Amino acid sequence: MPEKTQPPCFDKPKYAGYSPAMDDVYRLMDSALIYYQGQAVGLMASTDHRAPADNYSDCFVRDFFSAGLIMLLEGRADIVRAFLTVIMQLRGQQETLEGQQIAPGVLPASFRVYRDAEGNETIMADFGDRAIGRVAPVDSMMWWAVLLRAYVRYTGDAAFAQTTEIQRMVRMILSLCLQSRFEVFPTLLVPDASFMIDRRMGVNGHPIEIQALFDMTLCCADLLIPEEGSQWLIDLAHRRREILRHYLQRYYWLDMDVLNRIYRYSTEMFGEDVENLFNIYSDSIPDWVPDWLPDGAGYFVGNLGPGRIDFRFFSQGNLLMLVGDLASPEQAAALMNLIEQRWDDLIGRMPMKLVYPAIKSHEWRLITGSDPKNIPWSYHNGGNWPVLIWPLVAAALKSNRRDLAERAWAITEQRLLRDAWPEYYDGRYGRLMGRRANVGQVWSATGLLLARHLLDEPDTLERLGFGRDFS
Ligand code: GLC
Repeated sequence: MPEKTQPPCFDKPKYAGYSPAMDDVYRLMDSALIYYQGQAVGLMASTDHRAPADNYSDCFVRDFFSAGLIMLLEGRADIVRAFLTVIMQLRGQQETLEGQQIAPGVLPASFRVYRDAEGNETIMADFGDRAIGRVAPVDSMMWWAVLLRAYVRYTGDAAFAQTTEIQRMVRMILSLCLQSRFEVFPTLLVPDASFMIDRRMGVNGHPIEIQALFDMTLCCADLLIPEEGSQWLIDLAHRRREILRHYLQRYYWLDMDVLNRIYRYSTEMFGEDVENLFNIYSDSIPDWVPDWLPDGAGYFVGNLGPGRIDFRFFSQGNLLMLVGDLASPEQAAALMNLIEQRWDDLIGRMPMKLVYPAIKSHEWRLITGSDPKNIPWSYHNGGNWPVLIWPLVAAALKSNRRDLAERAWAITEQRLLRDAWPEYYDGRYGRLMGRRANVGQVWSATGLLLARHLLDEPDTLERLGFGRDFS
């Protein structure tokens, strides 16, 4: 627990007095601060003492991202820098599995600081070796790299990025992502549960969220110093990015025209120039898709692989495709149309549904392994996650749909404050508070505050390095 004497995060919080909810965000951030050697280095995921899992008092790399951007915007770049440094140093704590070479770029899912009676501090990382389900957090190194880039862009502190340790870390991450393994696609192959959805949910393979983060990570090659033997890696990252974008835009995109083509696909086609590259059978189109997909709208499917399209709509992946400028302008407009026309399903009473639709009955048993936390319309299986307000607002602003960003914002503020910042909401329309949701969930609060910043200063995204073409 933080000591009482700790100073608050910000001297003059930008939105102090703006509304009771904004005041409460700052209070929550202050109470969640984690110190190491006298320096603030992160935030707990949740301050709820009744949290169902012990590691909610850890600082998670993915959870810290929105808070990190706020700290840049509100004059606490020192905390971001300290966080980036600590995470990088923790890499050394990864245990080796017998008979395995250590993957050089993997970063921990989370960390915590232990303080003994004499005040001695030890910092402990979790690489998925302690987390429930023992999942390897592939997205951690990606969020770290994107935050590093935002830090450098915003503060202009290029000297930090040019230190030997950071250069080495960025090279390791890029090498790990770009290494060829068993792949025939330009996308990245990952195990189930290796990102925000960190429980078994049938998201192994090539999930859209990881692909969007992969592209943003490749952009971080621009932090490398070419003269230090990195030119080949910069070139490789650049080339892969071009191929990846083209591939995602072409094969992940689904609208009524594409669906019609899939519906009439020939199958079992051998050779190079075939239309049905992945041998998708039209019978695998779920019943809900043709009726749900409106005209003039579309989205990126959840996953793509041999004989497999996961037609579920995954919000974070789709929104990050827009934030990272990975979609064509037409696709971006069509995706925002989908959100508008399917507002009740995707947003309802709380932005935004993590996945639509929920998987049920035998599908739920087979895909989740009968996970009681992921019952239909709950948690990862169709729950609504307040943290998604910031990528939603960012995506809407980038696609000139400020109206949707404002509309989403308007339903969040009071409800989140009243419910004391839950982790997620349940039900078809997000009307119920999550059955096992923590309160005091920090990224639910920082997501909201970051969204406010983005709404009020339209050039914020650009200043953080999320400009057009991610420049
Ligand atoms: C849950 C979420 C994960 C999040 C963590 C801490 O495990 O699935 O995405 O990072 O909680 O909030």
